[in-house]
Amino acid sequence: MKGIILAGGKGTRLYPITKVVSKQLLQIYDKPLIYYPLSTLMLAGIKDILIICAPESIEQYKSLLGDGKDIGLNLQYKVQEKPNGLAEAFIIGEDFIKKDNVCLILGDNFFYGHGFSKYLQEGANLKHGAMILGCKVKDPTQFGVIEVDNNNNVISIEEKPAQPKSNLAVPGLYFFDNKVIEIAKKIKPSKRGELEIVSVIEEYMKQKQLKANIVGRGLAWLDTGTPQGLKNASDFVQIIQNAQGFYIACLEEIAYNMNFINYEQLKKLGELLKQSDYGQYILKLEKEND
Ligand code: G1P
Repeated sequence: MKGIILAGGKGTRLYPITKVVSKQLLQIYDKPLIYYPLSTLMLAGIKDILIICAPESIEQYKSLLGDGKDIGLNLQYKVQEKPNGLAEAFIIGEDFIKKDNVCLILGDNFFYGHGFSKYLQEGANLKHGAMILGCKVKDPTQFGVIEVDNNNNVISIEEKPAQPKSNLAVPGLYFFDNKVIEIAKKIKPSKRGELEIVSVIEEYMKQKQLKANIVGRGLAWLDTGTPQGLKNASDFVQIIQNAQGFYIACLEEIAYNMNFINYEQLKKLGELLKQSDYGQYILKLEKEND
């Protein structure tokens, strides 16, 4: 399975912070925001990852993450010229996806929780159709919203409905089979002029090839699209890391735990960052699995 991180958009809800810096490069406590969705893909076992960003920020993403080899990944980059919608990612990424299935994660989506890996594994093992999550939220009007029947089959999906049919929002983490490319090419732009991800999901729903996992309260899915959201996510990471001593989204640690790199490679990466607490954390990690 291939992975795509969509880090396009103008981040207008964060102006002026995002006037010259891409939203997904902003800080969530001690790491750039994009580390968090990248860690999610890595935990799903995905190594081939395309980062799609706005033209003005591609060089910054490249200098931050490079080709990903040092953490056992194959990272590629493409530009989304205009914020034409999330579903455009599959058209931009067609040559990268080739014949594979694909997981799309939005560059501003933060997930943390016990049991999350179970959903990632299920998604990564997807053979046909699509898999999405449904998360209960206080204000669903800001999101894609699904309505489900008693068996958790999706019976409707709407983008930012004024009168939501449920409080189940669809987070920005989606698993699709290869048909998604053709579906994305066929859907029509919405009233706001975007190729909506919900239109793609709706197509899978109509074909009865959509699975929605309704996640429980143990999974934290945080919105980082506003100044308050950024601060809340930062506070969350700080609190968990300080209480547990485990880092959230330490890419080097995840690469090691997933066997993408060996212990020697891990320590070398730690050396390069040893001036920071992040680097010291890597250096203190114990040998576990080689
Ligand atoms: C997008 C999607 C929406 C989804 C949300 C999750 O909205 O269009 O369906 O629920 O991401 O973060 P955006 O945040 O880009 O407005």
